[in-house]
Amino acid sequence: MAENGAGTILIADDEPNIRRVLEAAFAKDGYTVLTAENGRKALDIVAVEPNIDVLMSDLIMPDMNGVELLEAVREINPSMSVLMITAHGTIKSAVDAMRLGAFDYITKPFDMDEIKVVVKKALERRHLINENQDLRQQLKSRYKFDNIVGSSGRMQEVYKIVERVASSRASVLIRGESGTGKELIARALHYNSNRAAMPFVPVVCVALSEQLLESELFGHEKGSFTGAIGQKPGRFEMAHKGTLFLDEIGDIPGNVQMKLLRVLQEREFERVGGLKTIKVDVRVVTATNQNLETAVKEGKFREDLFYRLQVVQINLPPLRERKEDIPALVEHFIGKYARDNGSDIKFASPEALETMLQYNWPGNVRQLENTVERAIVLADPDAQLITPDLLPIEVQTHKGS
Ligand SMILES: Nc1ncnc2c1ncn2[C@@H]1O[C@H](COP(=O)(O)OP(=O)(O)OP(=O)(O)O)[C@@H](O)[C@H]1O
Ligand SMILES: [Mg+2]
Repeated sequence: MAENGAGTILIADDEPNIRRVLEAAFAKDGYTVLTAENGRKALDIVAVEPNIDVLMSDLIMPDMNGVELLEAVREINPSMSVLMITAHGTIKSAVDAMRLGAFDYITKPFDMDEIKVVVKKALERRHLINENQDLRQQLKSRYKFDNIVGSSGRMQEVYKIVERVASSRASVLIRGESGTGKELIARALHYNSNRAAMPFVPVVCVALSEQLLESELFGHEKGSFTGAIGQKPGRFEMAHKGTLFLDEIGDIPGNVQMKLLRVLQEREFERVGGLKTIKVDVRVVTATNQNLETAVKEGKFREDLFYRLQVVQINLPPLRERKEDIPALVEHFIGKYARDNGSDIKFASPEALETMLQYNWPGNVRQLENTVERAIVLADPDAQLITPDLLPIEVQTHKGS
């Protein structure tokens, strides 16, 4: 890779000699080499130069140290490989830097051959991530918005907020009745963000006991409670650099609420039964169909946590408030289910559509989706249209809302 000049390296070190030696060695091997004499200058270069593959940074520099530089670079270019250069006495900080996402560290005085091997590895990692990103990019375009149907004014407002906040780390609370598409929007936030190449980790918060939920989110150490046989990393660790989606957030117990607040504030936590503090960079998206304000008033939900979670709120309208989207949704779901069921149905009849427009859809888009699927399954094998008789009785009679 290096031989054919494929790599760009940025060297940040306040010692001119080190910059000179490294620059000469890597330039000779065909790399493009940029240098900066402190963290701030390095950051300026990163901000305008998108093609840097590897950053080699001294750990201790005036102005902005290596760790601060690393954190800032992560925000701008998460796939860049960062190597820390460190004197022997500061290995502990180098290890801390790795926990924050540095790829490796090199100790001073250094051995040139060793550095070259490490840089080569860092480059390989960067190329892998890029390939992966291309794949995710395709996924993202699928996720962009074209799997989300609806061009009503209410949905346009939602898309606008999603686009505007996707790439920030601000916590987003998605509210809406059951079946309005909260999870779909959570995924759209992730796949439209600069975290798209990193994991999207969903957790449904109901249905787990307090102890299991805590261990699910934060992980546990061996023997920390009955049944904790081995050590296990939690969802927060898995979502590092990505997005954690906490569904049904209104149901989490007080103890977990407190721990969650701390991660949101300090970006760190300990595993259950663990002493080691773990740092994470996670974007938290939550969803609820409950009235959290009421839960706060009743003392069931921490007010401070509520405010932390809803830095940005996205309110998904119930389907009955955007009925103009029903025809497009029906067509979308026919497309989704007809082929799977070997059906030739392409449309709903005008009467069937009118019936569906009259109905109030308490179960929202999910109920509409189930209704279309059911109609396709029930229809005669040679049917061309969804007719009113294929709709559930409550839809035909406009009841159930
Ligand atoms: N705008 C939309 N376009 C296409 N499909 C949608 C849309 N909104 C929802 N759906 C579909 O409806 C179903 C329910 O959506 P989703 O699971 O995101 O809802 P939810 O709000 O999370 O529901 P719940 O509160 O019950 O968990 C999914 O199959 C989803 O793909
Ligand atoms: Mg959901």
